[in-house]
Amino acid sequence: MKSFAKALVSAAAITAAFNAAPLQADPKAEVLHYWTSGGEAKAVKALQEAFSARGGEWVDAPVAGGGGDAQAAVLRARVLAGDPPAAVQIKGPNIQEWAEAGALADLSGVASAQNWDGVLPETIQNIVKYEGKYVAVPVNVHRVDWIWANPEVLAKVGAGVPTTWDEFNATADKLLAAGIIPLAHGGQPWQDATVFETVVLGIGGVDFYRKALVDLDMDALGSDTMVSVFDQMRKMRGYVDPDFPGRDWNLATAMVMRGEAAMQIMGDWAKGEFAAAGKVPGKDYICASTPSENGYLLNSDSFAMFNVKGDDLVAGQNLLAELILGTEFQETFNLFKGSIPARTDVPRTEFDDCAIKSMDDMVSAAEGGTLLGSMAHEIAQAGAVRGAFIDIATAHFNSDMSSQDAVEKLVKAIKLAQ
Ligand code: BGC
Repeated sequence: MKSFAKALVSAAAITAAFNAAPLQADPKAEVLHYWTSGGEAKAVKALQEAFSARGGEWVDAPVAGGGGDAQAAVLRARVLAGDPPAAVQIKGPNIQEWAEAGALADLSGVASAQNWDGVLPETIQNIVKYEGKYVAVPVNVHRVDWIWANPEVLAKVGAGVPTTWDEFNATADKLLAAGIIPLAHGGQPWQDATVFETVVLGIGGVDFYRKALVDLDMDALGSDTMVSVFDQMRKMRGYVDPDFPGRDWNLATAMVMRGEAAMQIMGDWAKGEFAAAGKVPGKDYICASTPSENGYLLNSDSFAMFNVKGDDLVAGQNLLAELILGTEFQETFNLFKGSIPARTDVPRTEFDDCAIKSMDDMVSAAEGGTLLGSMAHEIAQAGAVRGAFIDIATAHFNSDMSSQDAVEKLVKAIKLAQ
């Protein structure tokens, strides 16, 4: 992927100087993103409105498809054609790869004017900096290891939200026996991988997750613990309804909302859907972290500004970067999106209990060394390695492959992808 990105950029021979726009240019930006669900659309509209209010011309370029895999293909094609969009929603090691390929504008000017170093946690700085310089502007922190539950549905079998995987299985078995769908799930590879990584964290623990999914330690990947992870995934397969293949994640969230299923395992963009439908946490739905020993699976969205020509576009990029890291916008956006601000100094008053839990848990995970990057959501891994994890997780989930086979295939696939 690294050399692929490089090749694309040099093929396109793009040059531009960031921050060189004369003040009089009217800001304009084509914004490539994949925020098309109810909550996501509200959140991105808030950015569009803030941009327009400052005289910006926003050219919307949404690519539907949760998790962003469809958008990644569009981005590569645009860069190859020598016509990258001005602002693109990318994250994790992808940022580093595009920066290394020379595709990204340097945001140092706006970053020092707004003191990004002083207001962003180090974990986030490391994601959006390349060789010490800011090359992307972070929008939020999303937590991945969440259960979203319908309390009324759980009450039908006398259960609360499970706090261990054994309890999860026992509750799910009771729900099945009562004719209720235990787990709302959308059968798309990235969604299978989302559930998979929460199970890796829960069954294996923080150190195991780090060894297997972050450090790619072959012993961990090929271990009995990984066999147990796939055993649990096989159980999970039994807890989803027959119509799950291909279902979008937000439709799975709607099943929990409507009481058609008891729980969904999904990042807190699901909360954006509950919020968009006017649902109240603690009353209409419950958020709880998936069973684990204090782990926190972190995902963070950001926008990278691609090197483009044109004073209006450069002015647009500067304005977008400035708006995105503004305290006010970080609050408004994240209230819609279900995430928490990337900045640490945004007042907590407007945020609900799920967001406060995420903020507190993130701080204690950072202090306790249990903050981990999400594999499924491109923070721990990107490109071929992430693809290999997702392929095996989804191949196992959607077939009768044994856990032992899955582990052997996983070790082979990761070795090949590295
Ligand atoms: C992104 C979220 C997005 C979700 C569903 C995640 O990878 O970080 O912003 O809402 O995918 O598309």
